[in-house]
Amino acid sequence: MSFENLKIADAGGIRTITINRPEKLNALNAATVAELDAAIADIAGDDAVNAVVITGAGEKAFVAGADISELAALGPVEAKEFALRGQAVFRRLERLTKPVIAAVNGYALGGGCELAMACHIRVAASNAVFGQPEVKLGLIPGYGGTQRLPRLIGRGRALEILLTGRNVSADEALGIGLANVVCEPAELEEVVGGILKAVLANGPLAVGHCLEAVNSGMDMGLEDACLLEATLFGVGAASEQMREGTRAFLERRKPEFRRS
Ligand code: COA
Repeated sequence: MSFENLKIADAGGIRTITINRPEKLNALNAATVAELDAAIADIAGDDAVNAVVITGAGEKAFVAGADISELAALGPVEAKEFALRGQAVFRRLERLTKPVIAAVNGYALGGGCELAMACHIRVAASNAVFGQPEVKLGLIPGYGGTQRLPRLIGRGRALEILLTGRNVSADEALGIGLANVVCEPAELEEVVGGILKAVLANGPLAVGHCLEAVNSGMDMGLEDACLLEATLFGVGAASEQMREGTRAFLERRKPEFRRS
């Protein structure tokens, strides 16, 4: 599959998607969002892909937002559709049952912050800048920012960031739970690789079930969410991977999980 605005690279079961419009700081135009959707569908159906990394081309930006030149021309009906389209793509990304890491290598503003939040884990380079500056444009976030930010960092902190539209440094993002890890820019790939190595050494079905339990359960009441957890716990118990994991522990050896 070839794209105009994305670069795709595969290594060791890890697919790296690079948003590739560096001259526009990787701003998400409609064409890029559509390509991202196709890339996500491809990942879901490709057994050779075990994990995903999303990053931005160049040294300055992860993604500097939705493309403001396209936004500026939208009427109300189109604007709603624009938001729904982007939200659906980010939700499909979030609901992947393969781990997705955002390697945030610079500006992650507006749609860039929203894209990073739809990923499962965020690793930020020390020069990363997060924020939802839409209010400065007379807009609100439209790709899930008003919903994922409070879920991630709490309502009070999220409202302050959303209402001021201010920038959030990598260190602050780490402190409030918006970033999981901060590292030097030159170490970003290595740090992301280290996290994925740890994740991919675990039972693949269990990793997928954790993602499913959190992603679906967070939107349910506690009782239904716990029922979902118990059901997935039960499904896992039917797997050879669970037999291998528990057997390996009891035999004091490392488990060898088969993916199929
Ligand atoms: N949409 C469209 N184009 C964008 C963009 C966006 N969100 N963000 C950056 N660009 C473009 C600029 O227009 C410029 O293009 P040009 O060279 O053709 O004029 C190019 O990317 C470089 O950006 P520039 O503003 O010159 O870089 P900078 O280093 O001076 O500033 C930012 C960097 C991120 C602070 C600034 O680009 C910015 O504020 N971007 C918008 C952020 C935003 O509001 N995002 C939310 C959108 S909903």
